[in-house]
Amino acid sequence: MADVSSQAPSEIQDAAGPYDARVATAAGAADGGASVAPDNAPRIDPVGREIPDFPVPAQLATHGPGRIIAMCNQKGGVGKTTTTINLGATLAEYGRKVLLVDFDPQGAASVGLGVNPHELDRTVYNLLMERGADIREVIVPTAVDGLDVLPANIDLSAAEVQLVGEVARESVLARVLRPVQDEYDVILVDCQPSLGLLTVNALTAAHGVLIPLECEFFALRGVALLVETIEKVRDRLNPRLEVDGILATMFDSRTLHSREVVARVHEAFGDKLLHTVIGRTVKFPDASVAAEPITVYAPSHPGAVAYRQLARELVARGDAA
Ligand SMILES: Nc1ncnc2c1ncn2[C@@H]1O[C@H](COP(=O)(O)OP(=O)(O)OP(=O)(O)O)[C@@H](O)[C@H]1O
Ligand SMILES: [Mg+2]
Repeated sequence: MADVSSQAPSEIQDAAGPYDARVATAAGAADGGASVAPDNAPRIDPVGREIPDFPVPAQLATHGPGRIIAMCNQKGGVGKTTTTINLGATLAEYGRKVLLVDFDPQGAASVGLGVNPHELDRTVYNLLMERGADIREVIVPTAVDGLDVLPANIDLSAAEVQLVGEVARESVLARVLRPVQDEYDVILVDCQPSLGLLTVNALTAAHGVLIPLECEFFALRGVALLVETIEKVRDRLNPRLEVDGILATMFDSRTLHSREVVARVHEAFGDKLLHTVIGRTVKFPDASVAAEPITVYAPSHPGAVAYRQLARELVARGDAA
């Protein structure tokens, strides 16, 4: 367990990123190629597990086929969109070609990357509803090299109802993504906070699910229902679907409470709990207002360091290319 008294003052004021100052140093150093703490201090996660060395991913000579990861939790405000944007940006920093699919009518992932979806005539909604619409004409490049977005806006809220009468209504998103799947290394789908038909479409298209969980008391409520939904989709629609991992977000190293939540998640899910933990910091909302990933807004902030570690951890686990 990290000793708060040994943490740098900045860590105490702002609990961003890896929960432990030594881990933050290690993860930060990894940007330069090394990922071992300079003082060889143990790298321990909040549940006491040693954090393995997640190497900087090797550059890829060719791209694709893309592994589709759905960012899913029907609870609102747990960090799905923040994780989609920042994981997308950090994977792109590591040379991956990333498509971010905004699959929430709120359009937060689009806006968070500087794309105003309310000005767009064509969004993911048109691709779902109109056969023959060309996904390449709807994808928008972002300011981050290697990161494209398939935007959404409020039109998407109608799709949930309109798709009900469609043949194979659960696999429409899978069909939409197929033409470009080979061009990307990772396709991240930012789901809305519901387990409705849109989310079922995301799960049907996906290879894996990443579940962001806010470190607060009621975090585990609803997770059983989410896991049950994932299992139903796996049984009935998409046998390849797996839970890639559970990501603890908004962790505050100063509180015993945060640690207890993470410990309970570990008890319930074992090694599905990722080593990487995202700290709570106002830098994330600040970066959203600036419509930039934290890696652009504050590249060396512990929040950016944490999402780089997450990217490396997922690559090391084989969940991302
Ligand atoms: N680690 C963090 N620390 C502090 N604030 C955060 C963190 N991650 C996200 N936030 C903020 O919390 C709010 C909710 O985050 P986000 O939009 O990513 O959640 P979400 O799960 O996508 O929400 P929704 O279910 O509404 O789509 C946003 O204002 C975001 O900036
Ligand atoms: Mg969201």
